[in-house]
Amino acid sequence: MHGEMRKLLAGELAALKEQGLYKEERVLQGPQGAEVTVGGKTVLNFCANNYLGLAGDPRVVEAAKRTLDQWAYGLSSVRFICGTTELHRQLELDLADFLGLEDSILYAACFDANGGVFEPLLGEDSAIVTDQLNHASIIDGVRLCKAQRFIYRHADMESLEHRLQEAGDARFRLVVTDGVFSMDGDFARLPEICDLAHRYDAMVMVDESHATGFTGPTGRGTHEKFGVIDRVDMITTTLGKALGGALGGATCGPREVIDWLRQKSRPYLFSNSLPPVICGAALEVLRICREDPEPLRRLDASQKRVRQELTALGFDIDAGDHPIIPVHFRRFENDAPLAVSMSRDLLAEGIYCIGFSFPVVPKGQARIRLQISAAHTEEHLDRLISAFAAVGKKHGAI
Ligand SMILES: Cc1ncc(COP(=O)(O)O)c(C=O)c1O
Repeated sequence: MHGEMRKLLAGELAALKEQGLYKEERVLQGPQGAEVTVGGKTVLNFCANNYLGLAGDPRVVEAAKRTLDQWAYGLSSVRFICGTTELHRQLELDLADFLGLEDSILYAACFDANGGVFEPLLGEDSAIVTDQLNHASIIDGVRLCKAQRFIYRHADMESLEHRLQEAGDARFRLVVTDGVFSMDGDFARLPEICDLAHRYDAMVMVDESHATGFTGPTGRGTHEKFGVIDRVDMITTTLGKALGGALGGATCGPREVIDWLRQKSRPYLFSNSLPPVICGAALEVLRICREDPEPLRRLDASQKRVRQELTALGFDIDAGDHPIIPVHFRRFENDAPLAVSMSRDLLAEGIYCIGFSFPVVPKGQARIRLQISAAHTEEHLDRLISAFAAVGKKHGAI
């Protein structure tokens, strides 16, 4: 490698470390779950997106094994050459049906779904109106497309309306939002977004990565929670969080849109097929989501309990009902070191959760983000709450 480049990167990496911005990866020494082993120690895991606890569910693991036996391992092909199996189509139709849309198209990840959805559909005569805090993959997907871009202030309906007015001359308008924003666990204001989109003749696309499987009365997502299932035109989502947590993403929508993406979407056309084992396991995940409401109920009861009990202890927690629970330190000037040192002490107490500070979140908004899973038992939650009480007192945070 060019010596100059290595020298430059070594300097930049050292600077990241000095600024406390270098991301260290903790290495798990066993499977993902409510409990994980890191550094030889078993701790309770409150930072995975394993919302329904299906990453290690024996029914899902069994389905994966069965699929491996029947369909073997890899496909060594893109979908349109020889990489489509019956399982892929079954999963696409099943997922679309689960989400209340006509069809869907699978990608290697939701990052790819978002990267490949805009460019084939919207040319320079069209407009994308996008929430300021949308996920990085939406931001990148929008950048890859020639449509005009209008960014509205996060969850601000007045700002959205202004942007829609500015986009008035466009041939097609698409409003795009995360269904749930992952730093705060707050929901998009979908009924109002749909109303405005209707008024300004725009389509609506929602990224449901942090919602599919467990949001709304039967887990269909944010559109079900807010009663707007038939007002959302397109959904992107991931198989990498609640739906088993392995890998894979999808775009769901009207048949013609999905068919067009199959012809034109670059991350689909120029990237390998999902392995059948993921499709087989994901079909089982969707069966569980439809037939077994227990994980969804447990998750909801658990997130409510954690919110209530941490608030009662004196922690600063916004009202909400998503299993992403940020614990804020807005009353403290030293919010960033407080969040980071508390999360370090919590780990020593056997609670694995992450402290976020600037630049991941804005200055003054450092927090510890908890993610609750249906795999957590009441006893796990007892331990979480008493560790927060002890560590919070030690640091003067409560
Ligand atoms: C809102 C949102 N969209 C998309 C993604 C990307 O999903 P995937 O891991 O399937 O690429 C994520 C994952 O972090 C996400 O949070």
